[in-house]
Amino acid sequence: MFTESTALRRVKPSATLAATDKARELARQGKNIISLSVGEPDFDTPENVKQAAIKAIVDGKTKYTNTDGILELKQAVCAKFERENGLTYKPSQINVSPGGKAVLFNAFTASLSPGDEVVIPAPYWVSYPDMVLLAGGEPVIAATSMKNGFKLKPAELEAAITPRTRWLLLNSPSNPSGAAYTRSELRALADVLLRYPDIWVLTDDMYEHLVFDDFEFTTIAQVEPALYERTLTMNGVSKAYAMTGWRIGYAGGPEPLIKAMEKVMSQTTSNACSISQWAAVEALNGTQDFIKPHAKLFQERRDLVVSMLNQARGLHCPTPEGAFYVYPSCEGLIGKKSPSGRTIRNDEDFVLELLEVEGANAVYGAAFGLSPFFRVSYAASTERLEDACSRIQRFCANVR
Ligand SMILES: Cc1ncc(COP(=O)(O)O)c(C=O)c1O
Repeated sequence: MFTESTALRRVKPSATLAATDKARELARQGKNIISLSVGEPDFDTPENVKQAAIKAIVDGKTKYTNTDGILELKQAVCAKFERENGLTYKPSQINVSPGGKAVLFNAFTASLSPGDEVVIPAPYWVSYPDMVLLAGGEPVIAATSMKNGFKLKPAELEAAITPRTRWLLLNSPSNPSGAAYTRSELRALADVLLRYPDIWVLTDDMYEHLVFDDFEFTTIAQVEPALYERTLTMNGVSKAYAMTGWRIGYAGGPEPLIKAMEKVMSQTTSNACSISQWAAVEALNGTQDFIKPHAKLFQERRDLVVSMLNQARGLHCPTPEGAFYVYPSCEGLIGKKSPSGRTIRNDEDFVLELLEVEGANAVYGAAFGLSPFFRVSYAASTERLEDACSRIQRFCANVR
């Protein structure tokens, strides 16, 4: 009989992928389903990036590469960090992995020993705690609040720190809340970290380019240069360049950590896809014209979704600074009856009832570590978003 490993038994499957599967199954049964659970831009990869990949194939760039990335891509990443974040890295300080997810996993695997703790602000991206567990560490969840814009306050950080704390994990703009830290908010967290020289920072800046209303994106090593020596600044091409399927993530950080991550890759995946790496070189070095119009479009969608959800009875939807998610509260509906007659006991029930009654598929807040909320992805066309938000409004209106 097959049994899962002890390490894997500590982990649960991704709730967001499970939500997508459930909606797909209902759609297969003929139900009219609209999904608000996708975590990728609904645009195609830019043409210049596709052409670079085609050229890489034609030129025979189809062999193994350096384990943690081709020099050309590392140089492009260095140039990106310098240009956009004012951070200076050498190629030897850069890791390229098969996706942002793999960067995180490699960093945790390379650094965590049993009992080591990682402070993760909630709501968090679903994969963080399970990745820490899989790497043998212990996630320590630090809850944020809606009134603080779902952002970790210095006192909340301080309360989560123990002698075993190894990392603070930051994600700005955030999946699932869309919250992004301002320079002064990062400054305040940095002030706490300066008092704890053994704690490192892993910052997931995946949604850097999706910020709205003239919000100025900053990252913690830029705000506090004294943290540079213990920060891993992680990013990738998946969200900014609509390249989720190409699987390229990257990070800049201290050389010993980067070397340790390479060691992990050398015994697991080896390099990220050679063709995708060449495509990513073009994404980072080529025209950046793609980015701004898409951010503008996402801002319009955010405004539409926030406005429509705030018109739904019992919901409250804050306006986030970035990414393509909103994280409304469904507290006003907890304890009430769904049109199906069932009681909505928590956010998971809310999302399940919404899917069954109206065919609108979102992800429940408990999966992200903070209830009673749910995540709506607005990486969808205006028509689909209007349809989905109307269904949510109708569902809420019929809750008694
Ligand atoms: C916050 C965050 N970090 C990392 C990732 C992973 O990115 P990738 O697709 O490059 O592995 C995602 C994807 O959903 C994300 O939302």
